[in-house]
Amino acid sequence: MTEIVLRSSGQLSKAHCYAELLPQIAAMIESEPDPIANLASASAALYHGLPHVSWAGFYRVRGGELVLGPFQGRPACIRIARGRGVCGAAWATGKTQIVPDVNAFPGHIACDSTSRSEIVLPLFHGGAVVGVLDLDSTEPAAFDQLDLQQLEPLARLLAPHLAAL
Ligand code: SME
Repeated sequence: MTEIVLRSSGQLSKAHCYAELLPQIAAMIESEPDPIANLASASAALYHGLPHVSWAGFYRVRGGELVLGPFQGRPACIRIARGRGVCGAAWATGKTQIVPDVNAFPGHIACDSTSRSEIVLPLFHGGAVVGVLDLDSTEPAAFDQLDLQQLEPLARLLAPHLAAL
């Protein structure tokens, strides 16, 4: 079994954290077929492996709504309508949303009052959005193009597992 390296001092650079984390998640997924195990482990790895992340998890499209999936962090809202909040916007537009100040985002859903910034990537499978990957931070403007660059391949890797739930 692959051991995930957990964050320690918070002094490591974001690029360094991703460089350590992503191959470990990829290796874990390659050797395990169960989608719940893989998504739960991926959310734990992102939450513990990236010092700027305070919530990491998945929502999946179910019956015309986004429904909460495996996650790490504080309890979050369970159902989100299409187009609502940052997650609903990522689903409706099919585009990654990077929100430097969640309080300035129209319709932002405040699951956690300490959350200050957020990135949400749509997960595509069979040409449709099947869910989203959502990361929150208690720091303002914590997410940038580096996160996008690193998380996009991960989103592609995880989408079939979300679709299989
Ligand atoms: N803030 C999100 C809701 C999900 S939580 O952040 C976990 C949104 O506006 O869609």
